[in-house]
Amino acid sequence: MRKLSSFAVALATGTALVTVLMPANAQTSPAATGDPVAGAKTFGQCRSCHATTAGAPDGIGPNLFGVYNSKAGTRRKGYAYSTALKSSRLVWNDATLDRWLTNPATTVPGTKMTFIGLQRKPMRDNVIAYLKTLK
Ligand code: HEC
Repeated sequence: MRKLSSFAVALATGTALVTVLMPANAQTSPAATGDPVAGAKTFGQCRSCHATTAGAPDGIGPNLFGVYNSKAGTRRKGYAYSTALKSSRLVWNDATLDRWLTNPATTVPGTKMTFIGLQRKPMRDNVIAYLKTLK
């Protein structure tokens, strides 16, 4: 039992460390360097699920107009977000979008966005730059 609980403490400490390290990631962060025109092309991989223009309906995924700087899972009132995303407390900025687009399922376990992720950082940077233009 003793061993188990020190393991748990180590785990918790590890998690805290990762959390503390995250802002460092945010500094080297994406999108400042992203190309929105290239991002619009890469967004072809997202279009089957996401509309991007004001007033367009939600699809399999929510319309992404105005998504940048919004609170995850709250912006589209008529859309049935997963409980996981609604309770994630994420706000969509360069750092959180970079994590999300790398791997939605590990960033928000239980999300219903069934997209494998964009493995290449330049592609994520470009898509994030494009998402910023949707306003
Ligand atoms: C197979 C369909 C599908 C694809 C492809 C897809 N998404 Fe999604 N996306 C979803 C769904 C479903 C949700 C809602 C997730 C939830 O509620 O857990 C979502 C949610 C999101 C959100 C959060 C929206 C909010 O209002 O909080 C963002 C941002 C997003 N997707 C971006 C993208 C980007 C960028 C791509 C392409 C690189 C992409 N998605 C590809 C289905 C998809």
